[in-house]
Amino acid sequence: MSGKTFYIETFGCQMNVHDSEKVIGTLQARGYRQVETPEDAGLVLYNTCSIRDKAEQKVFSRLQQFKRNGRDKVFGVLGCVAQQEGEKIFDRAPHVSLVAGSASYPRLGEMLVQLEAGNRRVTGLSLDTNETFDTPFTRRDNPHRAYITIIEGCDKSCAYCVVPFTRGPERSRTSESVMAEATGLAKRGFTEIQLLGQNVNSYRDPSPAGWDFAGLIARVAAIPGIRRVRYTTSHPRDFSKSIVDAMDANPVLCDHVHLPVQSGSSKVLRSMDRLYTREDYLRRIEWLKTARRRYSITTDIIVGFPGETERDFEETLDLLDEVQYDSLFSFKYSPRPNTAALSMGDRIPEEEKQRRLVILQEKQRAIQIRRNAQMIGAIREVLVEGRNQALGQWIGRTSCNRTLNFTHPDSGAALTGRYLPVRVTRSGPNSLVGESVTVV
Ligand code: 5AD
Ligand code: SF4
Repeated sequence: MSGKTFYIETFGCQMNVHDSEKVIGTLQARGYRQVETPEDAGLVLYNTCSIRDKAEQKVFSRLQQFKRNGRDKVFGVLGCVAQQEGEKIFDRAPHVSLVAGSASYPRLGEMLVQLEAGNRRVTGLSLDTNETFDTPFTRRDNPHRAYITIIEGCDKSCAYCVVPFTRGPERSRTSESVMAEATGLAKRGFTEIQLLGQNVNSYRDPSPAGWDFAGLIARVAAIPGIRRVRYTTSHPRDFSKSIVDAMDANPVLCDHVHLPVQSGSSKVLRSMDRLYTREDYLRRIEWLKTARRRYSITTDIIVGFPGETERDFEETLDLLDEVQYDSLFSFKYSPRPNTAALSMGDRIPEEEKQRRLVILQEKQRAIQIRRNAQMIGAIREVLVEGRNQALGQWIGRTSCNRTLNFTHPDSGAALTGRYLPVRVTRSGPNSLVGESVTVV
């Protein structure tokens, strides 16, 4: 390997982004230097996602590019595609030497030793780990905001979802370990913490303290120096009223909840095995809407699940009207290996899925234009994330997770990482623009 250099590209969710931070830290601790392009690297890693077929195909198209001219390099496939496809990857892409799923990253050091010794078929595919990957080496990109894993894996069995197969059974991390990491981060100057897990709401402290998720967020938010705490992702079934109460009690817990609904039809929710009805879901929305603070609510929606009729789809559109989401992620159903939905009849044609997706997105766009416009004139505190030189604006993020870009009279100031009040002056479908203000 040329002077122990590596390149890593990450696909997929925040869990994967954070896993990559851990992988990068581990590699750096072993003397590897990160480079910006695969061409410059001796070790090329792809941390992959398999949530939808498109995401999975990306890694194979990347690998294809190096089929001929990558002989001097070592290639590794990490993450969800690695876990799902396992050793088959060696057959499909013979120039790959490492295939490892996220549950095996605690053994990454050993795997690197094997690669360095010339082994060209190294695997880490076991899911039977009890450890949550907690490394002293995590290399964090952002000096103000840090991810912390609190729970790994997922015990639900949503009929469309590959995650239980790629990330294994649920394992909560001890509250002691979470608190130690969060306190350490606060001492090093981080002010925002994002707690991560496939289903954070089912967090259950395995140590005798036995905190549930509401107890955990309340304590993390109370750590001196921590100004914002976010979490993702929630499962509506496990989203309890005590979580809303904890949020109400401490504004450090941000004004935002991402509560993936997937469909507005109870019939579709049942065949997805989501374990709640439309009414159950709306009860949770009601908790948020009648809470002491105003919370942004965002969601994920899948269109074209097998058996979804026009009427079911209309129920989803109707749910959008009812909830008035601040933002949403929408997807066409993509059949995934091993999942229950794979064998369901009544598949929706691709063009129909596309038609529904467009209608859904147009509806949501109109809702967002309206909701964002209502914020004009309001003053919100932003965490400054950086500067957009081209626009001459600072990039800010509100507690409710909106991008609020703003101008500041002192263009030479070093504002990144600071918390500032900003008045909203303009709005668009996806972001806000404003000017910094001095509040007395
Ligand atoms: N097809 C389409 N979308 C999916 N998601 C999960 N699995 C699939 C699938 N097979 C979506 C869900 C989930 C988000 C992360 O990805 O909406 O909440
Ligand atoms: Fe993709 Fe799910 Fe794996 Fe995240 S956990 S990388 S979304 S398949």
